[in-house]
Amino acid sequence: MSSPSAAPPRSAPASRATLPAGPELSFPAPDEPEPQLERQTIAPPIATPTPRRRHLVVVANRLPVRRVFDSGDDEPAEDSNPASTTGTGRWERSPGGLVSALEPVVRTSRTSWVGWTGSPDEPSAPALEAFEHEGIDLHPVSITAAEQQGFYEGFSNGTLWPLYHDAIFVPQFHQAWWEAYEAVNRRFAQQTAAVASPGATVWIHDYQLQLVPKLLRELRPDLQIGFFLHIPFPAQELFLRLPWRAELTEGLLGADVVGFQTAVGADNFRLVARRVLGARLDGRHLLHGGRRIRVGTYPAGIDAARIRAIATEPATRARAVEIRHELGDPHTVLLGVDRLDYTKGIEVRLRAFRALLESGRIDPSSTVFVQIAQPSRDEAPGYAETRALVEQMAGAINGDFGALGGTAVKYLHQGQDLHELVALYLAADVMLVTPFRDGMNLVAKEYVAARVDLDGVLILSEFAGAAHQMRQAVLVNPFDVRALEAAVDEAVNGDRRQHRRRMAALGRGVHRDDAAWWAGQFLADLEAVPPVST
Ligand code: F6P
Repeated sequence: MSSPSAAPPRSAPASRATLPAGPELSFPAPDEPEPQLERQTIAPPIATPTPRRRHLVVVANRLPVRRVFDSGDDEPAEDSNPASTTGTGRWERSPGGLVSALEPVVRTSRTSWVGWTGSPDEPSAPALEAFEHEGIDLHPVSITAAEQQGFYEGFSNGTLWPLYHDAIFVPQFHQAWWEAYEAVNRRFAQQTAAVASPGATVWIHDYQLQLVPKLLRELRPDLQIGFFLHIPFPAQELFLRLPWRAELTEGLLGADVVGFQTAVGADNFRLVARRVLGARLDGRHLLHGGRRIRVGTYPAGIDAARIRAIATEPATRARAVEIRHELGDPHTVLLGVDRLDYTKGIEVRLRAFRALLESGRIDPSSTVFVQIAQPSRDEAPGYAETRALVEQMAGAINGDFGALGGTAVKYLHQGQDLHELVALYLAADVMLVTPFRDGMNLVAKEYVAARVDLDGVLILSEFAGAAHQMRQAVLVNPFDVRALEAAVDEAVNGDRRQHRRRMAALGRGVHRDDAAWWAGQFLADLEAVPPVST
C-alpha cells in the first residue's frame, strides 16, 4: 500500500479485528434520497453539459485568479489599478476548485465572473476595470479594508462560518459586521445586475453572498438565479440563533434553485424556510412570495481526470519516491492536507497519533505523519489560536518521539501546488481527512483520484459531506480519539486486498460524480426554470 516502488514491502497484516467497513455505518435518513446513489443504478453519467446559448454569470466571493509576482518584480505600485493585466505582477488561475469545476461549462457559453480580488481597496480608489482571463470576463468588486474586516473576517468567518459548522467555535453576533455584510452583498448584486445580459443565467456561490439572490432579483427579475452553498447548512436550532435569520432566509429564497452538498443540508433549509418565513412545501420545492423555489442536493466533485493525469506523469511518480526518501524512507507515511482551520480536526488527529506512539502501536522510527496546513484567514476569530495549538502539539510530539535524524510529525504551514500535492498523495500510505464538520471536502476525492495504483487508505470523517458518497472509506467519528486510533491502526495493519477493493470502488465514484457532472446537474436544473416574460 505504499507509494510506487518507494517503501519496503509491507509486513504481513496483523491479525487485528478490523473496523466495520464504511457502508455498514448508517447515516441520518433524510426525506430525500442521496442523488448519487440513485444515479449509480439508474441514470447515465452526464460527462459534458449540453451547449447553452445563455450568458452565464458566476458570482463568488473571490475571482478565480490571483496576482503573482515573478522574482525581480516589485510589489504593485500604490497607484496601479489592481485589475490591470499590465505592469507589475500578473494574474494566474487560483489553485482549487470552482474555476476547474466550471471549465466544461465555460467552454460552451459566454461566461462572466463577478468577485473580489482578495485585497482591500481604498474607498477613493478608481473603480476596478473588468479584464479577460482564460476566456472569462472578470469583474472585480471593490472591498475596503474596513469592509474586509466586517464582511469577510467578521460576519462571513466570525459569525456564519462557525455557526454553519455546528458552532464548533463560538459564533459572534455584531450589528456592525452584519451591516458590512449587507453593504458588500448589495454591491455584488448591483455589479451583477450591470454585467448580466437579458435572460442570463446567474450562479451565486457560498455563504459570503446569501443576500445576493434576493437583491439581484429586485434589480433584474428577468434573470435565472441559482445559489449553491459549499459549506453545511446547519440544523434549525443553530440557524435560529442568528439575529438576522429572516433576512438571510429571504435572501436565499430570491433564487430559483437553492443547492446544497447533502440531502441533510437541503432538509435543514426547507425546515428553516417554513419556520422562519412560513414558506410552504410543494414536494421538495418551496412556495414563497408567489414563486416556486427548487431546493436540491448537488454534491460537489473534482476534476478527477486531471488529478489522474498528473498522478500518472513520470515526474510526479518520481517526486513521490523522492518525498519518501526525504522523509527518511519510512515504512509508513500518514498525511493530512487542510487549510489551517478549527473545523478540520487537526488537533484530534495529532492526539490520536501521539496515543499510538505512546502505546507502541506505531513505531516512530518507521512512521512519519506529514501535516500540510495551508495558511488561512489569519485575522478571523479563532484561527491564530488553532495555529498555536496545532504547532504546540506537533512540537511536543517531535520533542518526545523524534530523533536527531528525523521527526515523527512533519508539519508545514504552507500551501502546495497541485503537482506537489498529487505527489504527496502518492507518497502517503494513509490519508487522514477528519474534519469535525465539512461541506464536502475535496481533498478526500483528490487523494482517491490520485491513487491510480489502488494503494493507500482513506480515513474519512463521518461529518464531512464526502462521507455521504464515499462509504467505502474507513469512516470515523473525528471527535473520538480512540476511534481515530483504531482507524489508523486498521489502515496501517488491516487487510490490504480489502483496502484495494475499497479504493477501486471509491475511484469509480470520484470519476463518475466529478466536477463536470456537479456543474452540469445544477445548471440543467437552473436552466429548466421557465424564463420570466418581461
Ligand atoms: O469552503 C468554503 C470556502 O469559502 C471555499 O469556497 C474557499 O475556497 C475556502 O473556503 C477558502 O476560503 P477563503 O476565501 O476564506 O480563503
